[in-house]
Amino acid sequence: MTRSAAGRARSLNADGMSNQENKQESKPTFFLTTPIYYVNARPHLGHTYTTVAADTLARWKRMRGYDVHFLTGTDEHGQKIERSAVRTGKTPQEFAAEVSSEFRGLWDRMGLTYDDFIRTTEDRHKRSVQYLFSELQKRGFIYKGTYSGQYCVWDELYVEGPPGTHCPDCGRITETVSEENYFFKLSAFERKLLEHYEKHPDFIRPEARRNEVMAFVRGGLRDLSISRTSFNWGIPVPGDEKHVIYVWMDALANYITALGYGSDDPANFEKYWPADVQLIGKEISRFHCVYWPAFLMAAGLPLPKSIVAHGWLLFEQSKMSKSRGNIVRAETILDVLGADALRYFLLREIVFGQDGSFSFDALVQRYNADLANGYGNLVSRTLTMIVKYFNGAVSFPGRSIHASPVSGIENAASDCIKSFNKHFEDFQFSAALEAVWAFMKIVDAYLTAEAPWKKLAQSNDLPMQNRVKQILDTAAESIRIITALVYPVIPDAAAKVWKQLGLGDITKADLKDLQWGDLRPGTKLGELGPVFPRAEKEAIERMQKMEEDRQAQSTADQEAASEQAALSQAKTSGPAEQPPPPHVHESQSAAAMSPEQEADAISQQAAAIPEVRSVSAVLDPVPPGQPIVAPATHAAPPQPAEEAPKIAIEDFAKVELRVAIVRVAERVPKADRLLRLEVDLGYERRQIVAGIAEAYTPESLIGRKVVIVANLAPRKLRGLESNGMIVAASVGEKGKPVLAGFLEDVEIGARLK
Ligand code: MSP
Repeated sequence: MTRSAAGRARSLNADGMSNQENKQESKPTFFLTTPIYYVNARPHLGHTYTTVAADTLARWKRMRGYDVHFLTGTDEHGQKIERSAVRTGKTPQEFAAEVSSEFRGLWDRMGLTYDDFIRTTEDRHKRSVQYLFSELQKRGFIYKGTYSGQYCVWDELYVEGPPGTHCPDCGRITETVSEENYFFKLSAFERKLLEHYEKHPDFIRPEARRNEVMAFVRGGLRDLSISRTSFNWGIPVPGDEKHVIYVWMDALANYITALGYGSDDPANFEKYWPADVQLIGKEISRFHCVYWPAFLMAAGLPLPKSIVAHGWLLFEQSKMSKSRGNIVRAETILDVLGADALRYFLLREIVFGQDGSFSFDALVQRYNADLANGYGNLVSRTLTMIVKYFNGAVSFPGRSIHASPVSGIENAASDCIKSFNKHFEDFQFSAALEAVWAFMKIVDAYLTAEAPWKKLAQSNDLPMQNRVKQILDTAAESIRIITALVYPVIPDAAAKVWKQLGLGDITKADLKDLQWGDLRPGTKLGELGPVFPRAEKEAIERMQKMEEDRQAQSTADQEAASEQAALSQAKTSGPAEQPPPPHVHESQSAAAMSPEQEADAISQQAAAIPEVRSVSAVLDPVPPGQPIVAPATHAAPPQPAEEAPKIAIEDFAKVELRVAIVRVAERVPKADRLLRLEVDLGYERRQIVAGIAEAYTPESLIGRKVVIVANLAPRKLRGLESNGMIVAASVGEKGKPVLAGFLEDVEIGARLK
């Protein structure tokens, strides 16, 4: 069992380890989980969003006296991860360990208070997953059969439909799979699941997700294939090791394997299961609300109390994800504004459950308006006056602050506490924070109206001094309430303010029954200091620049890794001077691709490589029976660096290759390798961003006919939408792109078959 640094500090700071542990025995438990994140992509703000929300809930529950167990981790098996590792020239183990430690490192840097971080490659997890599999087998819910159908490697999802079907989640073309597999009798749980949803309206939240899931189940459930034989980066089926367990069964089980389910030490499982809240992004509702409860029912285990799905964090209008090339790293914001700024923004700006947009402008605006000018300013003006007029000593009259006009504030404070807690219970973080900031406005207005500085300038006699003291005490008590409430959301700032109020370590404070008037008289303020210094406009540009540099760096790293992978592959499969494989220069060409984009492109590459071959076949037909190869641009013919999976003709037919003419070509500012092209297909004109700027000047392309993949989902690159990709051979050591073309004149819009 592991604990985060912050989690450890929490326990060790307590009055005494054994006391604390004993006290925990009597506390109600609260088990909270996040999804475990795929290690094919490095952490970005989307992942941070869920984990921050979970951390906030965990802190709030602890503050209210719960024995919280907060679990997060990484999902490390499956074909997608195996393929990503190969692309970077690493073993899946090395690759997974590297990315997993990035997730963990980021959570630690942000001070997130997870109690356990599970990796699905750990032995404790593997053993327990195998135990679960055997249990389901023993109980008669697993049988062997043959699966022939479609599979989305990206989402690790079985998809119904003929070859060529697109994944309903990510839109990518599914792969055709035909394997002898183990099946889980999901169909046996259709009615039971529906009954459970009906009986427990809070099982799936929010309502919209619940309706979606119920409609899906009502549509009928088919048995689920739960093993694969075509790759082996996974947990072997006990007793039949050529099968690995389906990655979603492996991954979902983490919620119980981390607690020691089926192990020699099931104490945590007995203590914390069933989970109170399982937070997820909405796109994985089906796995969590259908498969997961069915597995648990089959194993005879209780179901989680609530699965809560939040919406997507959008950036530049679409879901933030590396495959779309529109990610922002948390690190950038941590460096410039700090973790609290990010936490506050995510929870205040986005209505939990709905999609919401991120932008640097909005982040800085919120930071300045609410944190620097709002909370920070209220704290600083109040405490500075207490120092100035009363030497930093506050009377803190406790429950004596009852007389008018203070009572208005007292009532407002009590209402604020109630409303905050009610909204938190409903996962409405944004509304909860709104309530606090509304209260803050009341206190601000009170200070402005009472103007204690003017009063003391008028007269400095004792009654006036007492009056001013009362005003400032009221403001200080309001700040105490506000600080206790916002602690789960902005813990660093709240801890600072708590100290400045002279109240010590906020993590040790008993905030369970937060109410007006609990400040003890005679408290001396701590040392004052800025809490949220105002951010200048320049902060926005700085963060944008950092993101651009980071993108460029990851591109460079990726190139180096790809070269390394190609080289090591060449070492094992042929002479060292062999050039890299022919490949397609996608809109985000190899040069401009991040690891996830590359991973993303892999499933398309199976189709992409034959495209180049087809082009060469047109140019230079080969006799029947001879292999078709890419055009020879070198003495030694280019060889694929890795064995590309074979595809059926139907798969190739799914790729819509067309001839287009370049009408506009220009460089993309601050992106050395990218060109923005406008290409004309005759029936349509569209924009493509291509990584070919180092090989072609914009002028040389205008009027040139090119081959494009016309049916690729659009993506954003450097803020520009790219609608398709240009087909090119990749030649030489550096993989220089050479555009595919024709000897004969071909009309634009013509399809390549
Ligand atoms: N490994 C699976 C989950 C297995 S859980 C048993 C997976 N991993 S993931 O890395 O793709 O992470 C998905 C989760 O990350 C989402 O469910 C969500 O919690 C978070 N997010 C990733 N991108 C996001 C956004 N752009 N917006 C909001 N949340 C996002 O799926």
